Amino acid sequence: MSNQEELIRLASEIKNCQKCPLYKAATNPVPGAPNPNAEIVFVGEAPGYWEDQKGIPFVGAAGNLLDKLLAKISVKRDDVFVCNILKHRPPNNRAPMPDEITACTPFLKRQLLTIKPKVVITLGRFAMNYFIPEAYISQTHGHPMSVNWEGLDLLIIPMYHPAAALRNGQVMKQLEEDFLKVPEIIEPRGLNLRYQSKRSVGAKILNQKTNSSTEKAHGFLGSRIKTNGQLVVKPAPPPEPEIEQGKLF
Ligand code: URA
Repeated sequence: MSNQEELIRLASEIKNCQKCPLYKAATNPVPGAPNPNAEIVFVGEAPGYWEDQKGIPFVGAAGNLLDKLLAKISVKRDDVFVCNILKHRPPNNRAPMPDEITACTPFLKRQLLTIKPKVVITLGRFAMNYFIPEAYISQTHGHPMSVNWEGLDLLIIPMYHPAAALRNGQVMKQLEEDFLKVPEIIEPRGLNLRYQSKRSVGAKILNQKTNSSTEKAHGFLGSRIKTNGQLVVKPAPPPEPEIEQGKLF
């Protein structure tokens, strides 16, 4: 089974999940999107209002900031996979509860074991503590950590959550600085952000039934299941033109 097929199967299980009560108030599940073959996976906390409405992670204000930060390091959302610790929205965006995390994270684990990324960038303390339980975000943000997690060799890069950065100028500054360090952290480990597209949309999922450019841009795995949209497989585009590193920032 391809990564894409496995993620679709997982999205369908997430849609039907009743292991915690969050599904009752949620509009849509938010499994994650878009690249099933990503080398970099971002893990956030839980869907908010807009994510719940659309079934796509990070499409509200925090998502806009994430897109801006990705653009600063020349990474396209299509080249990464973005998901959350919780797949259904907690009421009023409250913090995830321990039993919800316990119920939901087997999905995250299966997503990661399917995608087998090289790098996981955690956004906020809940995502960080899933991989590194004892860590404090104020101490570990921006510091990469190599771990063997469930048999995968992962480089974990903890970062502040974009929503926290939107509330606090100091956190915003730290988050920007940490993002700008990502190329120099990962390129010596054999990952070149400028060539991510090679591993990219060969197996990208697009939702045929949506007209929103955001939804088209980020894929629509959750609602694709719901609306039974068609799978579209596009050939991988040519690699990005080489840009001198100094000019990126
Ligand atoms: N915050 C998150 O942690 N995840 C989202 O998908 C959106 C906002």
